[in-house]
Amino acid sequence: MSTKLERYIKDLQLKQFFKRLGASNPEILAKEVEHFTTKEAKKRDKIVVSYFGRTGVNRIVNNVTKLLLAPPRLLAGANVLDIGAGTGFLTVKIAKKISAKLPEVSFYAMDLTPAMLFSLEKKNADVVPFVGIAENIEGSIKEARKHFPIPYKFDAVFSTLMLHHSTHPEKVFKSIKATLKKNGKAILIDMCEHTFEEFKMEMGDVHLGFKPENIREMARQHFSEVKVEKIPGICCKSSGRSAEIFVASMRNDS
Ligand SMILES: C[S@@+](CC[C@H](N)C(=O)[O-])C[C@H]1O[C@@H](n2cnc3c(N)ncnc32)[C@H](O)[C@@H]1O
Repeated sequence: MSTKLERYIKDLQLKQFFKRLGASNPEILAKEVEHFTTKEAKKRDKIVVSYFGRTGVNRIVNNVTKLLLAPPRLLAGANVLDIGAGTGFLTVKIAKKISAKLPEVSFYAMDLTPAMLFSLEKKNADVVPFVGIAENIEGSIKEARKHFPIPYKFDAVFSTLMLHHSTHPEKVFKSIKATLKKNGKAILIDMCEHTFEEFKMEMGDVHLGFKPENIREMARQHFSEVKVEKIPGICCKSSGRSAEIFVASMRNDS
């Protein structure tokens, strides 16, 4: 029997859905969906471990968890959203750590690629998956709410290794701001700028990472409190090539 998520995605007709959300590049999005469906959905968890090692994975999880638990503290009943959550390998680990301290926090996972979300759903974790695009989270939520009780606004948002797949990263910051409650926080982890052009073909990447100062600049357009720093000691490694990782944290004070 198909699950509610499978039935909702079957009815969705992705290309029209992306157009309804105002995506100016539905063809690129469709290519990304194809890449993640055919190359990553079944083995993303192992891919993440191969990039960072177990120690690196734990450091990413600990970084996000620490920032989520930092002041302003999440209240009981807070809602947290992972954007571009993929198969939820990191989402589930982060959700478990937070839930151990704050059991009433609810977790949601949005992604472009249904196949990635099906893998997440199979984990039977306490995370609600829905399809959407990072450049229009509000619109994605409105669509998803026709099928699932997703909150309109979130106390915190995080994202790992999604931004370099976005065709319009600057829109992602605006979209995150629109999704956050007042004093809500956002945490974004991605690769620093690198020179491995072949990552575009091999991994479906759109950007060869980002300069931390460019991330700071994009974030400052929408957030007054912005901190961007490299995470020391971990790199994204693939076949002898290695890219540093940054973490950006922002707070919505308006
Ligand atoms: C490299 S994977 C990262 C997945 C997960 N966050 C992790 O760290 O393992 C990138 C994910 O972002 C999703 N994605 C790419 N572009 C997106 C967009 N514009 N909006 C939402 N999700 C997107 C892809 O479908 C894919 O699941």
